[in-house]
Amino acid sequence: ASRTVLEKKKIVITAGPTYEKIDPVRFIGNYSSGKMGFALAEVSAQQGAEVTLIAGPVSLTTTHPNIQRIDVESAEEMYQAAMTAFPGADAGILCAAVADYRPEIQAGEKIKRESKGEMMLHLIPNKDIAASLGAIKREGQVLVGFALETNNEATNAESKLKRKNLDFIVLNSLRDAGAGFRCDTNKISIIDRQGETTGYPLKSKQGVAVDIVNKLATLLK
Ligand code: C5P
Repeated sequence: ASRTVLEKKKIVITAGPTYEKIDPVRFIGNYSSGKMGFALAEVSAQQGAEVTLIAGPVSLTTTHPNIQRIDVESAEEMYQAAMTAFPGADAGILCAAVADYRPEIQAGEKIKRESKGEMMLHLIPNKDIAASLGAIKREGQVLVGFALETNNEATNAESKLKRKNLDFIVLNSLRDAGAGFRCDTNKISIIDRQGETTGYPLKSKQGVAVDIVNKLATLLK
């Protein structure tokens, strides 16, 4: 009989990349595999939570009966699903690699090659899901974000924490071997609102998810 640290808690998790349509056959995306977010969903469910997993386009499956999965494609769809689910939840974990911009115009037909000419794609900003949830966060709700940085990791992560009204932020650096996109392992630090940083060793994404869930559980008491 293991301890279930998230018993009956409702957790919303975003995971994976978003695809921003250019035309019916092309998109702007990123290399996120969704593995970290899916590991968080599995571990949260194993720890007794009812999970809403809002997943961008990924090739992963979920098995636990307490995971309700909502598949989305674009940042706008992910935003709508997250804003709908979060008010009824105890916590949100924003693990998705959301596209910051989308093409202003999505062509209805496949764009044809111009004769030798260059081509411009005009991009407009997507909504920041983390910041939007941070703005509607109620007393007692806990919000967790991720930061993947290539430079000035800690400083950027701390400013993100404040700007998005997060309770803690999980920092993973692209500089660490075996961390970040597509791998099965990750190396994280957690920075909380008190400015306290805890470093963790390189672990499987499953093991990292356990550390994050345990940290979340301490704030949900
Ligand atoms: O600002 P940056 O994208 O680096 O922040 C990363 C954090 O914000 C992650 O938790 C990510 O899931 C979240 N985010 C979001 N919506 C966006 C951009 C980022 O929820 N449009």
